[in-house]
Amino acid sequence: MLTAEEQILKYAIIGSGMMGLEHIRNLIEIPNTQIVGVCDPHTPSLEKARRALNRVEGVRYFANYKDLLANCDADVVVIATPNHTHIDIATDVIRTGKHLLIEKPLCTTVSDCNKLISLQRSVGFDHQVIWVGLEYRFMAPTARVLKEIEKGTVGAVKMISIREHRYPFLEKIDDWNRFNVNTGGTLVEKCCHFFDLMCLIAKSRPVSVMASGSQDVNHLDESYGGKIPDILDNAYVIVNFENGVRGLLDLCMFAEASKNEQEISIVGDKGKIEAMISESVVRIGKRKDGYGSFQDFPIEMDQHVVKGFHHGASYIEHTQLQSAVRTGREAQVGLSDGLWSVAIGQAAHHSIEEGRLVQISEVLSWVD
Ligand SMILES: NC(=O)c1ccc[n+]([C@@H]2O[C@H](COP(=O)([O-])OP(=O)(O)OC[C@H]3O[C@@H](n4cnc5c(N)ncnc54)[C@H](O)[C@@H]3O)[C@@H](O)[C@H]2O)c1
Repeated sequence: MLTAEEQILKYAIIGSGMMGLEHIRNLIEIPNTQIVGVCDPHTPSLEKARRALNRVEGVRYFANYKDLLANCDADVVVIATPNHTHIDIATDVIRTGKHLLIEKPLCTTVSDCNKLISLQRSVGFDHQVIWVGLEYRFMAPTARVLKEIEKGTVGAVKMISIREHRYPFLEKIDDWNRFNVNTGGTLVEKCCHFFDLMCLIAKSRPVSVMASGSQDVNHLDESYGGKIPDILDNAYVIVNFENGVRGLLDLCMFAEASKNEQEISIVGDKGKIEAMISESVVRIGKRKDGYGSFQDFPIEMDQHVVKGFHHGASYIEHTQLQSAVRTGREAQVGLSDGLWSVAIGQAAHHSIEEGRLVQISEVLSWVD
């Protein structure tokens, strides 16, 4: 008799573009895991999946995800398709009762996130794990920060500042990421990761958001079917939490000439902790040790885990999801986490459009 750990978990991947391939690379490395189906309507993407899986037997390939769902005996489905397609595909997957890993952002709007939450409640499959791919929690430096905060290293958290200074958006299949209507907007698409981290660290719900941002540098000379991209490339976003914690996001997408793509700084009443993601260093300063005191901790990456890229976070995400599936536990990153991270992003966009503080309660009540 096989133990829960030994039982093979069968996967179907919907969307084999950049992120779908990252999932495939990771799943190939995980024991007792088998990919049984891949679907993508874009032939070159499907071919890339075939090449990545050339040594794996028994994989079936589809152009339409409904055919995959009808014909593939998978335990877990991964959705790695453009953001605006998530709502329809996730609705169909959830109805099958199969476990689901859905890429971030959960959906492009709060209204669609709420539809999936209602659906999960109404279909009511026992032990169906629905996991949202907010995997920055699992990056080694971030995970260390979360652990230190849990230990009380910086005391009661008061301020969370996250800076992402990086390169412009990459080119995507059919250029879907050039328009807000497809992505939900940069602050939903990209920054849901950081808003999720803020909620996790603050251990509280967001109440209001104030933001300033615009599209100043990137993609202005591009045109798709006569349309110029409308995605913002820089912003400051302030998030107020119910328990008084304050968050600040500093996003710049024309700042690739810098050392760290992400820098996270959390200050509590007893000290400060920082994570420099590209350098893979965590810095801790304790107020009791006096002015200017701090210690740097280099964070080692497990080479086995980083094989699939994204600093190893996707691999850990998959192993944690598998553990939830095998033991009948709930998703560690569930639909409500997906909702809050989208709600802050959507509120931030609204704040920029209207030039005012936006209450999260307003955004939660919007229905598309
Ligand atoms: N977790 C992360 O850090 C992270 C990083 C990058 C992208 N993402 C997310 O992953 C998703 C995919 O992004 P990407 O970068 O791989 O984009 P991509 O353009 O590289 O790939 C998307 C793929 O989905 C396919 N597709 C489109 N509609 C489909 C459908 N109906 N059925 C099946 N396949 C379909 C496209 O043909 C394409 O091959 C997005 O939601 C994105 O936000 C997450």
